[in-house]
Amino acid sequence: MNYQASPNRYNTMRYNRCGQSGLLLPAFSLGLWHNFGEIDNYENGRSIIRKAFDAGITHFDLANNYGPPPGSAETTFGKMLKSDLASHRDEIIVSTKAGWQMWEGPYGDHGSKKYLMASLDQSLMRMGLDYVDIFYHHRPDPDTPLEETMGTLDLMVRQGKALYVGISSYNAEETRQALRVLKELGTPCLIHQPRYSMFDRWIEDGLLEVLGDEGVGCIVFSPLEQGLLTNKYLKGIPKVSRAASGRGNGALEADQITAEKLNLVAQLNAIAAERGQSLAQMALCWVKRDPRVTSVLLGVSRPEQLEDSLSALENPGFGEEELLRIEEVLAGRG
Ligand SMILES: NC(=O)c1ccc[n+]([C@@H]2O[C@H](COP(=O)([O-])OP(=O)(O)OC[C@H]3O[C@@H](n4cnc5c(N)ncnc54)[C@H](OP(=O)(O)O)[C@@H]3O)[C@@H](O)[C@H]2O)c1
Repeated sequence: MNYQASPNRYNTMRYNRCGQSGLLLPAFSLGLWHNFGEIDNYENGRSIIRKAFDAGITHFDLANNYGPPPGSAETTFGKMLKSDLASHRDEIIVSTKAGWQMWEGPYGDHGSKKYLMASLDQSLMRMGLDYVDIFYHHRPDPDTPLEETMGTLDLMVRQGKALYVGISSYNAEETRQALRVLKELGTPCLIHQPRYSMFDRWIEDGLLEVLGDEGVGCIVFSPLEQGLLTNKYLKGIPKVSRAASGRGNGALEADQITAEKLNLVAQLNAIAAERGQSLAQMALCWVKRDPRVTSVLLGVSRPEQLEDSLSALENPGFGEEELLRIEEVLAGRG
């Protein structure tokens, strides 16, 4: 069926400046790590992409290894772009990454120029694009000189294959050094992509400060701890859920859902209910409470989840007492 984008798509989404750049990103962006692989239902994924774009989500986040199998999420997305969104390319920010193992042999992993340049070319082919808007180095590589990895990001921009560059999962000190090298090369780092949720707060310990000081944007991933920070696992593991899917590639596994975590989830769920929100909505608002967080990456397996998560924008603020109660729960004193 032909798709016509909603004429109201820019009415409700908020757009935030990405660090000190000229680029605005939506408060919520869509990630395609899971649910868009060759093993997934194509029409379901297509409905998610359409619904996202209709809701003002202009940013779609990919990586070379998303699937499964690796690469297939980019192929799927390329097909959807072509069939539904081709005339909207200039309204869309597409990102991809390389840094984890992608192909056999010594040149399919980590941070060498050899790997990153080939990977970006492959990603462009799979998505049917001439350029990506953002290219990330996916994780730090202590064995490759930072000058080589950052020099490669700079080269991608100079070749016109990426408009902006970013880094993912670099710690505060690694980030400071990468930003310095990129600045010297004349290609400033646009954005950092770290994991952040109520259960994983490492970025509060220095990274956010570096990004704030240096004027670099921040887009956070796995804000729901892959679904754990929702009410879905409170009564056992549903058959249709990421934890039951056995997808591999870092996906949530059943043994990560411990009684201790579920106890915290139940208490957080009660606080969310008092706010008139689902736990998913509250968890999304919580990561967004820091103004240095430019955008939050949503990962959804169904269009209804996207709707639920987007409703978080209706009640994003927290009272001081609510934040304190959440802190008490997270500290195990709830
Ligand atoms: N840079 C990196 O290294 C890195 C690593 C990981 C992810 N990422 C990016 O971040 C994106 C998001 O990560 P993520 O998928 O782990 O995010 P997440 O939001 O923590 O988890 C998404 C999962 O939570 C569940 N969910 C989502 N919305 C829900 C709702 N409203 N109600 C109930 N359940 C809901 C769904 O689980 P079910 O599938 O069980 O329904 C969904 O698949 C990825 O797609 C990717 O773009 C980047």
